[in-house]
Amino acid sequence: MIILIKNGRILDPATKTDKTADLLIEEGKIKKIGEKIKAVADEVIDASGCFVMPGFVDLHVHLRDPGFEYKETVETGSKAAARGGFTTILAMPNTKPVVDNGDVVRYVLNKAADVGLTNVQQTGAITKGQHGEALSEIEEMVEAGILALSEDGKTVMNAGLYREAMMLAVKYDIPVLAHCEDKSLAKDGVMNEDARARRLGLPGITNAAEDVIVARDILLAKETGARLHLCHCSTKDSVTMLRQAKAEGLSVTGEVCPHHFTLTSADITRDDANYKMNPPLRTREDVDALIAGLKDGSIDAIATDHAPHSFDEKDVSMKRAPFGIVGLETAAALTMTELVEPGHLTPLEMAEKMSYRPAQILGIDRGSLAPGKTADVVIFNPREEYHIDAEKFASKAKNTPFHGRKVKGCVKVTILAGKVVYER
Ligand code: DOR
Ligand code: ZN
Ligand code: ZN
Repeated sequence: MIILIKNGRILDPATKTDKTADLLIEEGKIKKIGEKIKAVADEVIDASGCFVMPGFVDLHVHLRDPGFEYKETVETGSKAAARGGFTTILAMPNTKPVVDNGDVVRYVLNKAADVGLTNVQQTGAITKGQHGEALSEIEEMVEAGILALSEDGKTVMNAGLYREAMMLAVKYDIPVLAHCEDKSLAKDGVMNEDARARRLGLPGITNAAEDVIVARDILLAKETGARLHLCHCSTKDSVTMLRQAKAEGLSVTGEVCPHHFTLTSADITRDDANYKMNPPLRTREDVDALIAGLKDGSIDAIATDHAPHSFDEKDVSMKRAPFGIVGLETAAALTMTELVEPGHLTPLEMAEKMSYRPAQILGIDRGSLAPGKTADVVIFNPREEYHIDAEKFASKAKNTPFHGRKVKGCVKVTILAGKVVYER
């Protein structure tokens, strides 16, 4: 299979390439980039006016499979990924059963390979059943193919146990992805603790609920030498601590989710569970700090925290609904609209935050368009304007606060290892 992509704006952060050219794909690999490439191709794609980027890599996805297939499955999640331009997604372990042993890892990876629409990778839970009491079968899960450890959905509050897990992560050379939330501080809060929460009469979550765990985790990473990645950073102080950790030379990275750089708690005008996520939407001051962190490199990656839930689960008060919103099919458009259009990030930096850096953090040879690399490619039209329509999502779930929002930027084609897996 030979695919020729004509006249696109080739954006490859790995080689710092930003130029208009053709890109030739042969036998699943990037064959060459050049001007007016002549080739007998099975498929020629006109990418005039479009970005041609390495396929996006999402470090934070909830596939809900096994156990919560009514919310999402490996198949529907893979379809949503392809439609969103993601060619690699990392699945979180808070399924039923929890991904805490080799069998569950193999179940997800085998199912994903059968579906074949995106490269699915799996995280292993840190503790058995995510109960926070005993370590999971970490060695067995590493053998089954996990690429990272994470207790996402929760924080391992027992610091001693967490430290042991970090030492194993060093031994197996995998990162630890941290959900930073001290439940004794967050309590039963459902949104940011501020004037808006008081006006709506809803219980709040302060920044410290996140910040105290960010501080703890950085200190433990410093002591153990573990590669620490901070999930869904939402506060200004988490950015400050991340910046300082990097300045100290520690292996600490961080991600921010599109909802956290797009919305603030002031956008919550009524008790609407599509605005309930963990961590919550914060203040303008926090959002400005997150954007500054993305700009100066303190924040490495954009990840979705794609968290599908059923309509009925979200069709209740924020006090009763589960945390989380879907993100795979809106992330690129929100990044374009909120960060690239206003000039916070360049198109090349968009590719860096959505593809190259997350691939590096995961330790996989993806996120580059250099000749010889696996041909995971996304063709993205940065000029197309439209209103987000949740009904069109390939995901089973529609829980998003962005339904009806006007955005700019649309995924046209997604190519996985030289095969078109999505075409609008
Ligand atoms: O909003 C969230 N939803 N945050 C999390 O940490 C967990 C996730 C979920 O699993 O639904
Ligand atoms: Zn989380
Ligand atoms: Zn999550």
